[in-house]
Amino acid sequence: MPENNKLAFATRAVHSGYDSADSHGALNPPIYMTSTFCFDSVEQGAERFSGESPGHFYGRISNPTQDILEKRLADLEEGEAGLATASGMGAISSTFWTIVSPGDHVLVDKTIYGCTFSFMEHGLKKFGIEVTYADFTNHSELAAALKSNTKVVYFESPVNPSMRVLDIAAISVLTKSHNTDIQVIIDNTYCTPALQRPLTMGADIVVHSATKYLGGHGDLIAGAVVGRAEVIQQIRLFGLKDMTGAVISPINAFLILRGIKTLQLRMERHCQNTHVIAQLLDQHPAVGKVFYPGLKTDVGHDLATRQMDGFGGMIAFELKEGFEGATNMLNRLKLIKRAVSLGDTETLIQHPASMTHSTYTPEQQAEHRISRSLVRISAGLESVADIVADLEQALLEG
Ligand SMILES: Cc1ncc(COP(=O)(O)O)c(C=O)c1O
Repeated sequence: MPENNKLAFATRAVHSGYDSADSHGALNPPIYMTSTFCFDSVEQGAERFSGESPGHFYGRISNPTQDILEKRLADLEEGEAGLATASGMGAISSTFWTIVSPGDHVLVDKTIYGCTFSFMEHGLKKFGIEVTYADFTNHSELAAALKSNTKVVYFESPVNPSMRVLDIAAISVLTKSHNTDIQVIIDNTYCTPALQRPLTMGADIVVHSATKYLGGHGDLIAGAVVGRAEVIQQIRLFGLKDMTGAVISPINAFLILRGIKTLQLRMERHCQNTHVIAQLLDQHPAVGKVFYPGLKTDVGHDLATRQMDGFGGMIAFELKEGFEGATNMLNRLKLIKRAVSLGDTETLIQHPASMTHSTYTPEQQAEHRISRSLVRISAGLESVADIVADLEQALLEG
């Protein structure tokens, strides 16, 4: 068998981090349902606590099933080490509580997931951390917003929900030219490593809501962080262990490992279905703007073509009839589920201004381009003809 780094992504997604020889030949990894781990001696326990010897000691820090998942995630994201957490917000908060201190400055892109925005606005700011926002598609605005105390530059790409595409390599170079110590952190939930690997483009840390495509089946909540081994160890032993306690359950670690086995296949189908849906929406008379980098007319199309291995499974669009048009259309759908979250086998649709991004005030929503007529779709894995037919009947009756 070739060295692991020579194996293709789809192969590593199935095998990486696990050797069946370690588990009685079991094809799938065991789920270690245990909260604690026994020591041979007091000395061994002390060594594990101090980090002098490897090995698990308590389930809030690590677990063998979780360990396999972390190795697989690190491999797929092409990072040194990974950390699995109880939720995407657990990944983000464990990371930030480890890296930032009062007096530090965090620079954030103009639009991010609503609860991450709330974490910045109501969490970090409450503890003396300065948070400001800039439009990261505008590199001179980004450069001007960097400060001497900037510790983190944080963004998503494509952005939830506006679908703006941000240049990961350019943002990383620009940030590091200001100060090499700044941590460039990107939320890679929308793409997964199957479509985009930010650590190979200069980012320092990748965070994920594994609830979404990584798990892939809408049956769990989980998160992940990938980056340099030293930083991940700090996040594990402080942010996770002492600050958030947002540890993943062993059974969820197993379910994500199972989900990742089909990640590439699923992402291919998500991308295909989204493309067809985008074309329908793009020429539909009830629809105003469509935000999807797969459209040649989209402002992010060229960058997405260079940066991503597919245009993803997410699409946002505005109804010409505004908020009322959006509400009526959503309420008429029969097959597509009105639900937040994304990356599931079911096609999901939601209204960001009143749901995922309701943590923004109406003024902030206007400023951050989350209009009242904006609708977000996560294309599922159903037959695209059925998804399109449902959308057509819901749009046409308007
Ligand atoms: C882009 C993005 N990041 C992070 C999160 C938070 O993840 P979780 O719900 O797993 O805590 C979400 C949730 O919707 C998200 O969409």
